[in-house]
Amino acid sequence: MKKTILTGDRPTGKLHLGHYIGSLQNRVKLQDEYETFVLLADVQALTDNAHQPEILQQNIFEVALDYMAVGLDPQKCAFVIQSQIPEIAELTMFYMNLVTVAHVEKNPTVKTEIAQKGFGESLPLGFFCYPVSQAADITAFGAHLVPVGADQAPMIELCRDIAERFNRQYGETLVVPEAMYAQFGRLPGTDGAAKMSKTIGNTINLSDDEKTVSQKVMGMFTDPNRLTGKEPGNVEGNPVFTYHDAFNPDKVRVAELKELYRAGGENEKGKPILGDVTVKRELATALNEFLGPIREKRAELEKTPDFVWDVLRDGTARGKARAAETMAKVRESMKIAYF
Ligand code: TRP
Repeated sequence: MKKTILTGDRPTGKLHLGHYIGSLQNRVKLQDEYETFVLLADVQALTDNAHQPEILQQNIFEVALDYMAVGLDPQKCAFVIQSQIPEIAELTMFYMNLVTVAHVEKNPTVKTEIAQKGFGESLPLGFFCYPVSQAADITAFGAHLVPVGADQAPMIELCRDIAERFNRQYGETLVVPEAMYAQFGRLPGTDGAAKMSKTIGNTINLSDDEKTVSQKVMGMFTDPNRLTGKEPGNVEGNPVFTYHDAFNPDKVRVAELKELYRAGGENEKGKPILGDVTVKRELATALNEFLGPIREKRAELEKTPDFVWDVLRDGTARGKARAAETMAKVRESMKIAYF
């Protein structure tokens, strides 16, 4: 029997290159080998969007388009809408009793997000607890493997912890999942921030058109200490080169660009040998070549919304069946299967 994968995304907007590098790429590679469930985590999205639930429906559709556009095959991969699986909420309630507040407080991802979103005193309890509900997401499907970006490491750790604790307390019931992190690591934002994030507004979306991509690339941060193209520049930690490494298939040219950039210098006309603009133009071209087929597929699918919703309905039904199986086992183990 195939092993199971579970991953997910909050449907609060269109997916971006950071999602692709962090997780989508791995999902596409692994979907033949594993039974894959991808969760559209609308309940998790509500933890910081309770005042605007109406954004979810459109974004579920957009994310489903992104999934299929990058090559997730709905035959191999069930797209599951989280809010339609009440078993996840039930599991969350039981798991809450196995985790301390202090443990969640230490979670670095949650800490960063809380700071970024500026909740202050108005931090919703639901948001604080979302790592616990994410453990329910993963274990409800009996996932063996969770391909995610490195920022999700504390979530998977907590999930493993909860599953182990549950099994010790109530007997072997839950699969303890392994994380799989993206090979490339984390993609920085266009502003050079550690992470590409919609909240910060430093993303390049998979659905951005050619012109938008070029504009965003031309506005990218490079080496802040390189005041003119004649000075030697830093390649390490320079987001433009990080993107070249991630998306430009012409590795020979990328190596050459790096060498020239590091060297600096001017030509016989007194112009920089390699200015930032050239590096960015070539990046924009590479990105647009990468995104071209994704955009085309997306545009095709967008014309058939009924098909997209059928895919979601079907995937959710498959997810529901799996979660119900887990829930029955959990009730047995906890001795709360009364009737
Ligand atoms: N927290 C994840 C994110 O923000 C999304 C997510 C929800 C998820 N449930 C999950 C990821 C389960 C992996 C497994 O990207």
